[in-house]
Amino acid sequence: MFRGQNRGGWFLTSDPIRVGVAGLGRAFMLMVPTFDADDRVILTAAAAPRAESCAAFEAKYGGTAYRSVEELCADPSVEAVYIATPHQMHVDHVLVAARAGKHILVEKPLAITMKDAETMVSAASEAGVHLIVGPSHSFDPPVELAAKLIARGDFGRLRMIQAFNYTDFLYRPRRPEELRTDEGGGVLFSQAIHQIDVVRRLAGGLGKNIYAMTGAWDPKRPTEGAFTAIMNFQGGCVANLTYSGYAHFDSDIWMNDVGELGQLKSPNSYGNARRTLADIDSKDEGQLKETRTFGRGKTIMAKHNEHFGPVIALCDHADLKLTPDGVEVFGDTERSFVEAKFGPAPRRTVIDALVAAVRHDVVPAQTGAWGLASLEVCHAILRSASTGRPIDLLRQCGTTYEETTG
Ligand SMILES: NC(=O)c1ccc[n+]([C@@H]2O[C@H](COP(=O)([O-])OP(=O)(O)OC[C@H]3O[C@@H](n4cnc5c(N)ncnc54)[C@H](O)[C@@H]3O)[C@@H](O)[C@H]2O)c1
Repeated sequence: MFRGQNRGGWFLTSDPIRVGVAGLGRAFMLMVPTFDADDRVILTAAAAPRAESCAAFEAKYGGTAYRSVEELCADPSVEAVYIATPHQMHVDHVLVAARAGKHILVEKPLAITMKDAETMVSAASEAGVHLIVGPSHSFDPPVELAAKLIARGDFGRLRMIQAFNYTDFLYRPRRPEELRTDEGGGVLFSQAIHQIDVVRRLAGGLGKNIYAMTGAWDPKRPTEGAFTAIMNFQGGCVANLTYSGYAHFDSDIWMNDVGELGQLKSPNSYGNARRTLADIDSKDEGQLKETRTFGRGKTIMAKHNEHFGPVIALCDHADLKLTPDGVEVFGDTERSFVEAKFGPAPRRTVIDALVAAVRHDVVPAQTGAWGLASLEVCHAILRSASTGRPIDLLRQCGTTYEETTG
């Protein structure tokens, strides 16, 4: 019997969720410590095209590793599917899972196009299954904590958010399509989506409009690697989102040297991404990426909560600074720190959401409709940058549960 804590309070389950995994690549690798540490889920099957990953999955977890998502979704041992295949495949794989009656956790971004996202949300709704989009950094416990503190209203109204992240994203090994914007490449669909999710989570979700500029500055990697945007929310909050995947300055320095995945960063790792890329032939880049996947790569040991760079939320009576361990509250006359629990592994809150949805029919913030709204913001950033105009946001949604409970 496992006793877990969820937003709405405590629940008990002796019945772990039987999860099938579609795609045993990098994203799955990042979920391995979470799945392994949390008794509320067991992995019962997988689907992957590479024999090496399939063999590694069966050796570690038992069950069957299929070669297709269709076969995975036909397996009666699977009740929920975690879809961790490349962006462009999310739509087909979500439709297969929904039609098979499986609950779905799909990696961000929900889809590349708004049309696909709409089809996916409708398919899940028609099938009566839960569709959760994540993990994204909006699940990070310090973000959840800050959202709750803001929603409680003790600090007055939320006025402004600064979200800032400088990384080497564009120089990590990539599949070719990850460097082509119209196929979902670049920092918008893979990275902005995190920052948008975080900011929307803090501000309640309902964006009004956005004005943005993007940068595609490296002809060898011809996609957007940076952006800055001003996003207005219903209710009056304004957020500034800035991201560079070309960075030399690493903003994790301002997060106590804790990396995005909650790991301690060594100063000796400076420049590794560019150095490694410079040492290989570009045709070998896909193979280099594969060395980070299941059956080959190493899992990362987190010591803190994950994060997506410095975030500061300004309210009337306090400024909240998110850290990997919680929220620093700079009040009118006092300064304090509220801890956000870490462990037993990172991404516990993603499993909280899955359990709440599948076992208790409690809808998390990050539904399919939520993922669609965040995707709308990605497209609006691109459109604003190309037209030079602010773009109205028309498909936004708020959080669907009460932040102040729990
Ligand atoms: N939340 C996060 O922190 C995070 C981190 C990395 C990636 N992602 C997301 O995960 C998704 C995958 O990205 P990635 O970096 O892991 O890519 P990846 O290339 O490392 O992994 C994708 C995997 O899918 C497999 N695959 C391809 N076609 C398949 C099919 N038809 N059926 C089953 N498996 C198939 C590939 O063999 C590969 O192992 C993307 O949408 C990305 O945005 C999320």
